[in-house]
Amino acid sequence: MGKDVIIACDFGCKEEALSFLDRFTEEKPYVKIGKELYYAEGPDICREIKARGHKIFLDLKLHDIPNTVKSAMAVLSRLDVDMCNLHAAGTITMMEAALEGLTRPDGSRPLLIAVTQLTSTSEDRMRRELLIDHPMNEVVLHYAENARRAGLDGVVCSPLEAAAVHEACGKNFLTVTPGIRFADGPVQDQVRVTSPAKAKEIGSDYIVVGRPITRAEDPIAAYRRCVKEFI
Ligand code: C5P
Repeated sequence: MGKDVIIACDFGCKEEALSFLDRFTEEKPYVKIGKELYYAEGPDICREIKARGHKIFLDLKLHDIPNTVKSAMAVLSRLDVDMCNLHAAGTITMMEAALEGLTRPDGSRPLLIAVTQLTSTSEDRMRRELLIDHPMNEVVLHYAENARRAGLDGVVCSPLEAAAVHEACGKNFLTVTPGIRFADGPVQDQVRVTSPAKAKEIGSDYIVVGRPITRAEDPIAAYRRCVKEFI
């Protein structure tokens, strides 16, 4: 499985996203399209970015009844994206249905990755509001194991959790890790951050990097620095 740097293209419209990508004349970075850009522009934004030669991680985090997720995933697989995701909280049955929907008639399919607990959920709120009484790291690993049992390819997690996930689920189970900041750069609203070099050391498979690249004075140099440190 190839290690890669995925740029989070968190832009509000197609023009901004495409003019950002136009700056990359020599490389074709792997791109993450999230809810903001997808809801603003619809599925055509995936087709357009794909046609320019980029790989796409479509970060829509599906969570619904199994049949609905299965049908929605079948639609997403026809967009020819490379990676999709869902919430592991939807249960193993939902994850299995998602895989079935995602698999194309020729047997190929995008990678399917599960979100365990959102990093914005604190242990305290998980206990008080969701009535989940276990420590956060146990919940994350348990959800990762559920995803593996359902046949998924990996999870989104903090690089700090990547080693434990690999230990529990095997080294081929992918860890896709946001929360990346250069050691000498601003942290912004992320709390627990890791540098690309450190993420490599811990064993992340893919790092997801947004503002350290998209808001850099020289995005190309920032992207290349990520690649150099991580790969
Ligand atoms: O700009 P920044 O590098 O913080 O962007 C990180 C990207 O990863 C954003 O698109 C954010 O929504 C996403 N993400 C995250 N933490 C998670 C899951 C997704 O930062 N646990």
